[in-house]
Amino acid sequence: MKYRTHHCGALRPSDAGSEVTLSGWVDSRRDHGGVIFIDLRDREGITQIVFRPEEYPAVAGQSHGLRSEDVITVTGKVAPRLEGTTNSKLETGGIEIIATQLTVLNKSDVLPFQLDAKVANEDLRLEYRYLDLRRPQMARNLRLRHRVTKATRDYFDEQGFLEVETPILSNPTPEGARDFLVPARLTPGSFYALPQAPQQYKQLLQVAGVEKYFQIARCFRDEDLRAERQLEFTQVDVEASFTTELEIQTLVEGLLARIFRESKGIEIPTPFPRMPYREAMDRFGSDKPDTRFGLEIVELSDIFAASEFKVFRSVLDGGGVIRALNAKGAAEKFSKEQLKKWEEWAKTELGAKGLAYIKTSPTGEWESPIVKFFSEAEKNALAERLNLETGDVLFFGADQWQGVCDVLGRVRLRCAELLGLTEGSGALNFLWVVDFPLLAFAAEENKWVAVHHPFTRPKAEDLSLLDAGEFAKVRAVAYDVVLNGVELGGGSIRIHERELQARMFEALGIGAEEQQEKFGHLLRAFSFGAPPHGGLALGMDRIIMLIAGTDSIRDVIAFPKNNRGQDLLTHSPVTVDFKQLRELHIQSTAKKG
Ligand code: AMO
Ligand code: AMP
Repeated sequence: MKYRTHHCGALRPSDAGSEVTLSGWVDSRRDHGGVIFIDLRDREGITQIVFRPEEYPAVAGQSHGLRSEDVITVTGKVAPRLEGTTNSKLETGGIEIIATQLTVLNKSDVLPFQLDAKVANEDLRLEYRYLDLRRPQMARNLRLRHRVTKATRDYFDEQGFLEVETPILSNPTPEGARDFLVPARLTPGSFYALPQAPQQYKQLLQVAGVEKYFQIARCFRDEDLRAERQLEFTQVDVEASFTTELEIQTLVEGLLARIFRESKGIEIPTPFPRMPYREAMDRFGSDKPDTRFGLEIVELSDIFAASEFKVFRSVLDGGGVIRALNAKGAAEKFSKEQLKKWEEWAKTELGAKGLAYIKTSPTGEWESPIVKFFSEAEKNALAERLNLETGDVLFFGADQWQGVCDVLGRVRLRCAELLGLTEGSGALNFLWVVDFPLLAFAAEENKWVAVHHPFTRPKAEDLSLLDAGEFAKVRAVAYDVVLNGVELGGGSIRIHERELQARMFEALGIGAEEQQEKFGHLLRAFSFGAPPHGGLALGMDRIIMLIAGTDSIRDVIAFPKNNRGQDLLTHSPVTVDFKQLRELHIQSTAKKG
């Protein structure tokens, strides 16, 4: 039996009169007084099938038993649709098939949800992911993903890059998340780590003389999940030798331009603007600023230098800053009660000490818990600097620089969302954030940590600061690419000298012994003629999410985990039996259930 002569998206009025065979799923079925109409769907489209009882009674009789999502093969004649019954929404809307034969290949039970409706319950969609993927939007996303992957491979191939696969069972590589561990049966008590990124391998490939490497690489990070984070995700990973940060950035711009052109037909202008980290934090309170809207953070410390308001006074005396942002026109949207709740949110979720505000009433008065402490001069100065007008709401942050940036950065995004500042804008604001600090002090752990990773190169002109122990001031040759407030990727020029790498580990509190134990292979490799090298990795899922116009990477991954890290379709993770654990020399202390 031949299943098909055409796909369900193929036939046009010019095919009228030919006999065709189509296979697919019953998308919908309508009974018009005994004449049954079926929309038959396959991957490529939908074709209307008509069962006519007068002409073909046997087949028409059979068609009465058809239900949504049954899988069938139909043979029949292509007929032009009568005037007035054509469907301009369907590519095949000018024709229909008069069925002469019907084979039911498989029946379907009633579905747990309608494929053509919006399904609010994501857990249900994930449990029946194979049905969810039949929905047109999801099918489009899978195709889009294919296009993006293909454009990526073509681009790097043309640029002379080799795709090299690196191990999944590997050694731990620090990218700032927790490792997934795999017990090694053959070496009792030992574990492999799943790669958080192929970082060390791609650097070792440079020592190996590969010079231009890329990989569409699966990465694994045991971290808390969010809309743009999964436990396993895909990176476009790239590394090159004898290169500069400008060359890597230009290469990546070319890739992104190619991806947007081939998957969306959009020309994105390059080069992207560059913004130093410090400026991004100062103006937008984020190292991945969404520059589609203003709402910029404004410095007020000088205005309050002599303030009598105790809160501001003590912050300034302690070396902190006073800043604010103006949510223009927000007064009528944000009630006083809501503003109180904002303060709660800032305190509990963002770790702020407070979130003072000034709300202007329609008559121009200021409603605020703090203005009573301000002098006339301070009021005038802040109104002028923030361009305060009737209808505006100001939010104030007073704390150390980093804290104020973080809090007002989040306030800024929340205001933008509630005020609908990006709705329907269609803007694609790419930018490079550059000049990141090399190190940051992690107060909880009481030690310095790498802002990117320990293999990132300090700027040559800041090396003396590293030696002097002025860690906070050392900048890295590191760069992130950001689109509309989402970090698409990050990279750096690397350390390729054994000595410097050891100094970096030292700064991170990793002593000589631990260096040998954890990174001995890398340090040794650097002593055998390691070329200067650098690279970057892009979050593939995030790029596709933004192109697809969804707000979750789960929508562009065929079989994602839910927010609790579970695969609801196959029910992983699962408990395993004692025997299996014993073989792996593992004892579980977790209780079942
Ligand atoms: P980084 O850790 O910045 O750099 O990761 C690169 C990009 O990967 C994406 N990404 C994620 N996407 C989905 N789910 C996650 N859990 C997740 N974590 C990260 C982000 C991010 O920008 N080895 C370095 C790169 C380099 O230096 O070359 C690295 O992995 O889009
Ligand atoms: P308090 O005197 O602590 O009740 O604070 C008076 C007002 O100042 C309240 O509206 C607080 O939200 C605000 N406030 C207190 N500390 C800060 C801070 N560090 N940053 C911004 N606002 C603050």
